[in-house]
Amino acid sequence: MAQQIKFEPLSGCIGALVHGVDLSNNHEDETIEQIQEGLMMHLALVFPGQNLSSAAHVALGERFGLLEPRHPLHDIADDLENIMVIENGPKRAPDNEDWHADMTFRTLPPQASLLAARVLPPKGGDTMFSNMYAVYDDLSKSMRHFLGTLNAVHSVETGYKKILVRDPIYEKDRLKALEKMDPADSYTTHPVVEHHPITGRPYLNVNEAFTSHIADLHSDESRALLNMLAERVRMPRYQVRHRWSVGDLVMWDNLATQHYAAGDYSEYRLMHRVTVKQFFRAREKEAT
Ligand code: SIN
Repeated sequence: MAQQIKFEPLSGCIGALVHGVDLSNNHEDETIEQIQEGLMMHLALVFPGQNLSSAAHVALGERFGLLEPRHPLHDIADDLENIMVIENGPKRAPDNEDWHADMTFRTLPPQASLLAARVLPPKGGDTMFSNMYAVYDDLSKSMRHFLGTLNAVHSVETGYKKILVRDPIYEKDRLKALEKMDPADSYTTHPVVEHHPITGRPYLNVNEAFTSHIADLHSDESRALLNMLAERVRMPRYQVRHRWSVGDLVMWDNLATQHYAAGDYSEYRLMHRVTVKQFFRAREKEAT
């Protein structure tokens, strides 16, 4: 029997707490559809206390769409190629303090991410999410029109180089992997305003981690415009903040949101991410 799922909004703009669903088994089509619909509406869904095994985490992601293959710069967990390990703490300082959407350096950036908290510091390490539909909608009509004429360059180097060179001895393997990445997988150009493949709505598609510059402008113009847009993304009115407990799973729409992990801790923090490259439902829509 499909589960009775309830979405409780967590802010005026983005995020919902999801009640009445056990993600560990029995992912009926109706349950998956309800969750995907809830995601399109609320953009970031918090499923508290799910405590999924790694295998169940991957199985859940696979019900939504094709999974992103192994991330070239991150370890995998439990021999499962689709589980990306994000670990920070005493050895590797927190390094996710940039507003970003995951992997926008890819021609087709992933459409969703499912992040599970495995080990948490005693305090700190919250994750914030910001709504890129709302950021776009609140710009003036003239600015929206202007942005709609522009393209921006996104690159993996822009996002990772500044992090990895902080401790080049510890990070030497990741630096080597970065240098070996195929340019076709690590550098791309996207419209500054994109349309969501499922909702059709326009959203702001530049982020301070991976966007190096706006292709069609002089560098000072590009910098000024990216700074203005980054200021908007940082405005609390567009955000929700999740304070993690071990076992929580948070799923976000990786196109219409950006996120930021607070680096206000020094103890070990371990997260596992399953990344959905393309929703089945979006693909079906494209095929018809
Ligand atoms: C991510 O950027 O995918 C991870 C965010 C986090 O660690 O909270």
